[in-house]
Amino acid sequence: MIYITGDTHGDVRRFFEPQLPCAGWGPEDKIIVAGDFGMLFGNGETDGKKLDLLARCPFQILFLDGNHECFPEIAAYPEELYCGGKVHRIRDNIRHLMRGQVYEIEGLRIFTMGGGYSIDRMLRVAGRNWWPEEMPSEAEYAEGMENLSRCGYAVDVLISHAAPTGSMLDLKKDGTFSMLFPQEVPLGNYLQKVAGMTRHRHYYFGHIHLDRELPGNRTALYYAVYCLNTGMCVKAPDAGKRG
Ligand SMILES: [Fe+2]
Repeated sequence: MIYITGDTHGDVRRFFEPQLPCAGWGPEDKIIVAGDFGMLFGNGETDGKKLDLLARCPFQILFLDGNHECFPEIAAYPEELYCGGKVHRIRDNIRHLMRGQVYEIEGLRIFTMGGGYSIDRMLRVAGRNWWPEEMPSEAEYAEGMENLSRCGYAVDVLISHAAPTGSMLDLKKDGTFSMLFPQEVPLGNYLQKVAGMTRHRHYYFGHIHLDRELPGNRTALYYAVYCLNTGMCVKAPDAGKRG
């Protein structure tokens, strides 16, 4: 089965009980992280130890990149094809789902677009805990459109790190946010366009650190875990939350 959750920010506890309901999961089971995986963050040996620990999980870990990742570290891993789309293979059971890809996994067609804007950019140091590749490039946007065109703009699930603009406006309307961050609007608009032109049954995204069901079959993910095959929530929001 395929499961999905939100930002894990380098916290390995998110891949073990009780935070992940993974008792009985095997090599065919997969957990997707909708960006801000955070296990590759330019921390050398510390990153390596976390990845080696996660490599012992009996299931697969698939992650989109978010804005809090060390992109050069991810890009140094070998690029290969996985279920019809490009990935970086980090460990045998850990793969980075790249931007603008369409994968066919367990009969589900899944579009991915990582990236996002760091609202705490001013507090971060370039090359130490912030990297300029956080926002998608024009080439990555174009690759996404090309891959969607090749599958007739028909997928089962859309996954991004950042939120589509329509969902941000919904959250602004209900008072959750007071404004949209202008630096991220081009990405949000692209995601909104993708959602508008693509047949899909559900849209999942991370980034905003909220667990929330939103209009238009959209789900903002943080700690909750959903099953993509059934669409059911298998771990309630905030259950097992630590720190
Ligand atoms: Fe995050």
